[in-house]
Amino acid sequence: MRASIHLLAALLVVTLAACGGDSPNQGGNTPAEPAGLTQAQLEKGVGPITSVDVSSLDAALAAQGEQVFTVKCSACHKMADRYVGPPLGTVASERSPEFIMNMILNPEEMIQKHPDVKAMLGQFMTPMPNQHLTEDEARAVLEYLRAQVEEA
Ligand code: HEC
Repeated sequence: MRASIHLLAALLVVTLAACGGDSPNQGGNTPAEPAGLTQAQLEKGVGPITSVDVSSLDAALAAQGEQVFTVKCSACHKMADRYVGPPLGTVASERSPEFIMNMILNPEEMIQKHPDVKAMLGQFMTPMPNQHLTEDEARAVLEYLRAQVEEA
């Protein structure tokens, strides 16, 4: 009996030491790292796309985008539900067109540099891969995502 109480006490000490021993030389309160992006980069993302002309919805372009989406995106994204990645049914109303195209064309750098995308990676635990779309294909997919918002 006495021996097992000592064992318990010893375990407790070891456990507490492990918890407390986190990072003794980091000084604790390191301030959150600044994003390091300009306001424009936060809004439009990081990548080759700095401005996109969007006006009224182009249904033919959206139909092309749907085909690309089915092949290159639907393995990970649904419109309404979380899957491997976040649902995209309303993303075109939440993100700028530039952000969406940069995410498609330049996901590596977006994951590395954009604080929102970093946070998403923390949530989804899978880095979105570069699917090597052309700029025209990415533009068509954007139109398809815009059409989702109109339908909703
Ligand atoms: C292998 C899975 C995978 C594929 C394929 C994929 N994505 Fe993603 N996508 C993700 C994940 C996971 C995230 C969340 C960020 C991260 O973890 O990298 C994401 C994030 C996004 C975002 C940002 C969403 C937001 O709320 O800001 C957009 C837009 C997006 N993907 C569009 C696409 C499009 C369009 C395609 C096809 C060209 C595609 N993705 C292909 C997994 C994928």
